[in-house]
Amino acid sequence: MGVGFVEGPFSASGEFVPAMTRRKTFVRRLLRWYARNHRPLPWRRTRDPYRVLVSEMMLQQTQVSRVIPKYREFLRTYPSLEALARATTREVREIWHPLGYNIRPVRLRDIARTVVRKHGGRVPDTREELMGLTGIGAYTAGALLTFAHGKPAPILDTNVRRVLRRVLYGDRPIADRVLWRVAGALLPQNNGYNFNQALMDFGATVCTARAPRCPACPMRGICSAYPRLRGRARA
Ligand code: ADE
Repeated sequence: MGVGFVEGPFSASGEFVPAMTRRKTFVRRLLRWYARNHRPLPWRRTRDPYRVLVSEMMLQQTQVSRVIPKYREFLRTYPSLEALARATTREVREIWHPLGYNIRPVRLRDIARTVVRKHGGRVPDTREELMGLTGIGAYTAGALLTFAHGKPAPILDTNVRRVLRRVLYGDRPIADRVLWRVAGALLPQNNGYNFNQALMDFGATVCTARAPRCPACPMRGICSAYPRLRGRARA
């Protein structure tokens, strides 16, 4: 785990790094929690890179409950990358419409076109190539690497950032550069898929922004923010 990672409490560059035992406990508890509590979301039943791409583009800034029916409808209309690549701007905007952010469907269609034209119809499996596609940032690249290609790659989005900051850093402001490294150090090399999906679910359902569910939280015993958060917590 975390090859080349300097053990805590401080790395050579002065960054606080959680010690190995704490990281292992975090991972173990998160995976156990996920095995019992994960949400059966439709995009977790596939590893097809096109489907994962559609789900991740929809989930950028839109709630899971609103994405689910639209994800299904979108895939019925555009069952493949090639079908989507042929769609007009008007068509993709129309089908996406209630999700808002109208630039995203056009970006997704343009990604489909680029993948068909430049990558032989296969969604790239390297961070560099993925991030070369407009609309795919560091989070989405990591999500595609783990969720579609089964590669051990870290992810960091709003939920994951909040979970790591609270549990490991007592909710102090921590630079993304550090959090990316920590997300990478925590990631189990042979179970990146479940670990990353677990982080998403844990942040969305337990370690929520406004009223976290501390009483039901498996991290309570190791959470640096718990002493302060418990006042805001709900059951
Ligand atoms: N938000 C972004 N990606 C997600 C996923 N795979 N599961 C749940 N929420 C998400």
